Amino acid sequence: MSQSCRFVILISGRGSNMEAIVDALSGLQNAKVVAVMSNEPEAAGLAWAQEKGIATRTVCHRDYTSRESFDKALAKSIDGFNPDYVLLAGFMRILTPGFANQFEGRLINIHPSLLPAFPGLHTHRQALAFGVQWHGCTVHFVTHKLDHGPVIAQGIVPVHDGDTEAELARRVLAMEHQVYGQVACWLADGRVQQHVDGTVTVAGIHSRAFGPQLL
Ligand code: GAR
Repeated sequence: MSQSCRFVILISGRGSNMEAIVDALSGLQNAKVVAVMSNEPEAAGLAWAQEKGIATRTVCHRDYTSRESFDKALAKSIDGFNPDYVLLAGFMRILTPGFANQFEGRLINIHPSLLPAFPGLHTHRQALAFGVQWHGCTVHFVTHKLDHGPVIAQGIVPVHDGDTEAELARRVLAMEHQVYGQVACWLADGRVQQHVDGTVTVAGIHSRAFGPQLL
């Protein structure tokens, strides 16, 4: 990508993934986080972004009577920044098909599980209840289906006997930061390609799996 790659990041709360993305991209000449937006006016991540000099916007879902009208307002606000990519980073709203269509191929999410396992909420609780020995996170292109879509990268962490939900969440979150930061850099470098069969490749990258060396 010859020009600077423009990112808008959407958050709903703490924004630690947003911080990881901003930090990872700060080392690149060809990338700019042009705005951080939230559906929650009190999202802690907004203050962090402001301190970094990044434009922030709030589009509060409670000000709208339908998902469609909220998504339209959000899309309009995003479009004002003319982004190449919109990164959902702990954005806890279900988006309408219209929104997903509008940003198709440019809309990316992180989910705290190894999709297709454990979509939805309380993924760490689900993982512990199921007894899986490996858990992790997935960065994927967004489709109409919740927590579903072509996988760009995954990060795996072990589940230890006696883990609490909080301990497992901490381990996965640290992995999320690593994976999302790296994916943002790949996007900025124009290396991520989504193919017609739905698969993804990253130019020059042999493995998109993060975590302990398995073999
Ligand atoms: C992260 O664990 C992210 O994967 C999850 O919310 C958390 C946000 O933390 N997202 C989802 O569950 C979306 N389905 P953060 O605000 O510190 O980045």
